[in-house]
Amino acid sequence: MGNDRLAIVARSLTKQFGDFTAVDGIDFEVHRGEVFGFLGPNGAGKTTTIRMMLGLLKPTAGTVTVLDVAVAEHPERIRPRIGYMSQRFSLYNDLTVLQNLRFYGRAYGLGNDRLKERIQEALRMTDLEGHEHTHTKDLAGGWRQRLALSAAILHRPELLFLDEPTASVDPVSRRAFWDLLYKLVAEGVTVFVTTHYMDEAEHCHRLAFIQRGRLIASGSPEEIKHSVMRGQVLEIAPADPPRAVQALRAARDAGRLELEEVAMYGSLVHVVGTGMERRKEEIAAELRRVGVAPGPMTVIEPSLEDVFIACMR
Ligand SMILES: Nc1ncnc2c1ncn2[C@@H]1O[C@H](COP(=O)(O)OP(=O)(O)OP(=O)(O)O)[C@@H](O)[C@H]1O
Ligand SMILES: [Mg+2]
Repeated sequence: MGNDRLAIVARSLTKQFGDFTAVDGIDFEVHRGEVFGFLGPNGAGKTTTIRMMLGLLKPTAGTVTVLDVAVAEHPERIRPRIGYMSQRFSLYNDLTVLQNLRFYGRAYGLGNDRLKERIQEALRMTDLEGHEHTHTKDLAGGWRQRLALSAAILHRPELLFLDEPTASVDPVSRRAFWDLLYKLVAEGVTVFVTTHYMDEAEHCHRLAFIQRGRLIASGSPEEIKHSVMRGQVLEIAPADPPRAVQALRAARDAGRLELEEVAMYGSLVHVVGTGMERRKEEIAAELRRVGVAPGPMTVIEPSLEDVFIACMR
């Protein structure tokens, strides 16, 4: 039966490599037209999950339906309708920009006229007009990444899989890349993206956190923040952040302070616990006790990074 609301439905999706379970019975749904973020530490099983959705790996157990196609049975039906940017962008470095686009366009079966038109659009979209004959290896990282994206959408896929597309590109290029993604989403494309960057996760409509092959949280950033975080986050700007973290953790371990988590964010310290508003003085006293000036303290909304740290525990 058709489903015009869901782009992906995974049920008890599992992949074992020998005795090792890389993806362990995960369930999730991706709605059409949304940006779905898939987050997890190295080796969590993100790429393996993507490869099953693409029909490149057969699940050991469970099922995944992509655009109403049971992928394991009919991988050939799904390929023309999806785009994929792999973790190491699959561009040919020795080819020029134009040659790479032609190569991908032909691989997707685009005829000459259509191919020409799509390549022009791709060049415009990525601001690579005038650089058609540059060798791909001579492009800066951000350009190469945008070229890889435009190659992945030459055939106008309904659904796009991006595996850590912004790893190792500078913040300005990451920004430009996300602007480009939102343009595609505005045109109705669904995006499944893995990332390590929490600021990018905040830009997703919905998220799933995966750890050691298991799904540990999913929902909108707001839902995840409220379901996972027990307690509030107190943000402190102490004189000596590393020393402050050390002291607060020691106080927690010694049972003097009841805290869920203490983590450092640059020059700030985040302390997670219940009733933080009225416990500021207690925490300030602990810092003074070890000779650290506590500095300003504010109860803040948890960031996804706070949530992620809480999840990983
Ligand atoms: N073909 C394979 N054979 C055996 N083990 C594999 C295979 N592919 C992946 N694995 C293992 O499965 C686990 C999950 O790998 P996967 O590449 O899916 O993780 P990931 O979340 O994409 O990590 P990263 O963030 O580093 O890309 C890892 O421990 C990896 O070593
Ligand atoms: Mg990976």
